[in-house]
Amino acid sequence: MTPLPSKTARTAPPDADSHDADSHDPRSPAPDDPQAPHAPHSPAPDGPATTHASHAAAGATAATRPVLSVRDVRIGHPAGDREIVHGVSFDLTPGKALGIVGESGSGKTLTCRAALGILPPPFEVTAGTVEIDGTPIAELTPRQWTELRGTTISAVFQDPASYLNPSLRVGAQIAEVLRVKKGLTRREARARSVELLRSVRLRDPELVHGQYPYELSGGMLQRVLIAAAIAAGPRILIADEATTALDVTVQAEILDLLEDLRERTGLALVVVSHDLAVVAQLCDEVLVMRGGEVVEQGPTSQVLHNPQHPYTRLLIAEHEQYGLDRFLAPEEAA
Ligand SMILES: Nc1ncnc2c1ncn2[C@@H]1O[C@H](COP(=O)(O)OP(=O)(O)O)[C@@H](O)[C@H]1O
Ligand SMILES: [Mg+2]
Repeated sequence: MTPLPSKTARTAPPDADSHDADSHDPRSPAPDDPQAPHAPHSPAPDGPATTHASHAAAGATAATRPVLSVRDVRIGHPAGDREIVHGVSFDLTPGKALGIVGESGSGKTLTCRAALGILPPPFEVTAGTVEIDGTPIAELTPRQWTELRGTTISAVFQDPASYLNPSLRVGAQIAEVLRVKKGLTRREARARSVELLRSVRLRDPELVHGQYPYELSGGMLQRVLIAAAIAAGPRILIADEATTALDVTVQAEILDLLEDLRERTGLALVVVSHDLAVVAQLCDEVLVMRGGEVVEQGPTSQVLHNPQHPYTRLLIAEHEQYGLDRFLAPEEAA
């Protein structure tokens, strides 16, 4: 896939979120969020057998078996019988990336949250199934969920500051994930968290390790969150508008980082964006949503080069003026 104009600069899409990349949100972290680095629970000894020591070494069978399987998932709001998401299906195998695009309010985040088992009440999955590594999530106990989060499925959302505890140094927050989820000692967790900060390409990981969230820029915080999200070696990472609030250069660097993780570790990615160029850079397959409906779905090159649905054509037309034409260059049309 062609590199993003990226890797130089790109004009922000017309509907880009106006979040200031360097703003800081003092809200305390969501305790039940899979990306919250200070997970409060210990791994359950009787949890599902979902730990996989080596992602990269996964054999052919493991590599072709979906780690995440979503089957005709419908999401509703019990009050008034309102259905918001009208059936989403996809399979994600290790090392693959699925993009979900569509305008704001089309149901992208709710779909992700359904897959993560963290739909905000009163929303609920009204039909269909989600399987993580072959296990229907509806059958998981809260304890099993706790074990799965971070170690098998993890997520990074927009607005990283709100997922970090403002009063704790960022390194300590990552180390906490490692102690709770991986059972590392304090010393091991510290060394490993510095390593993780280095792996997300923070220039001075030792320094960042000892800093508080307010001392870091938006791009640095997003890297810290990615480090926390991958700390326990998940097999699936859901990135929901994870780069939307960042300026284009930082965004391109973070996309690069995700691509690298996917290649190096076999991480399976779900990348949500209203920006088709982001998906074009990262994803093998794309799913286009509008009003809770999947209007088109298929291999990224096919959907981008030969869109079937008028809405997909419209999205592409909108993006062409912002650089997507680079992806549609003839030599790319393989
Ligand atoms: N917490 C919530 N309370 C009420 N409505 C919500 C909530 N979250 C999402 N919705 C509604 O559900 C629909 C889908 O939202 P969402 O999945 O967040 O869309 P997207 O991520 O594509 O922008 C929208 O109409 C939105 O207004
Ligand atoms: Mg959203």
